Amino acid sequence: MNFILTGFMGTGKTKTGQIIADKLKFQFIDTDSLVESKVKLSIGEIFENLGEKFFRELESEIIKDMSQKDRLVISCGGGAVLDFQNIKNLHKNGVIINLKATSETIFERLKDDNTRPLLKCQNPLEKIKELLSVRKLAYENCDLSFSTDFLTEAETAEIIIEKIKFLYLNLFESIK
Ligand code: S3P
Repeated sequence: MNFILTGFMGTGKTKTGQIIADKLKFQFIDTDSLVESKVKLSIGEIFENLGEKFFRELESEIIKDMSQKDRLVISCGGGAVLDFQNIKNLHKNGVIINLKATSETIFERLKDDNTRPLLKCQNPLEKIKELLSVRKLAYENCDLSFSTDFLTEAETAEIIIEKIKFLYLNLFESIK
């Protein structure tokens, strides 16, 4: 079984996922990093030079491959669950966990970050609100959901681990 972290940019998927993987002794995978290392370009450069469609296709390919593996914690780029085929692939062997935050929290966390091409615009807060509203259903349809507004990544990870150990006890009998 795999545990997949999704949710909007700035919700802490990567760091939270790393902590969870570490504690559960699962392997940690970040789909954005895999895309970057395949193309040898940053996400920003891929969007700029090769386009978002190219990025999405590569992201889907990586998700398909990863879904065939086991004992992974996968941090997915925030747009991955918009593609139903990605959700289907991830669900074959995984539980999809959505990390949430308000638009204001996300804006505060990302206001000095220039690695998110979708937020490079005149009014990033408005853009965050717009994307959150378009993506609402996709994020709400995940298996589990956690708010991260007032939590550090370590605290979020702790809460998620408790919940998944409770729900998937058999899998963790060997973990103290
Ligand atoms: C995206 C989120 C980013 C990255 C790309 C597109 C999105 O990942 O995949 O910039 O569509 O929300 P993070 O959610 O890890 O920032």
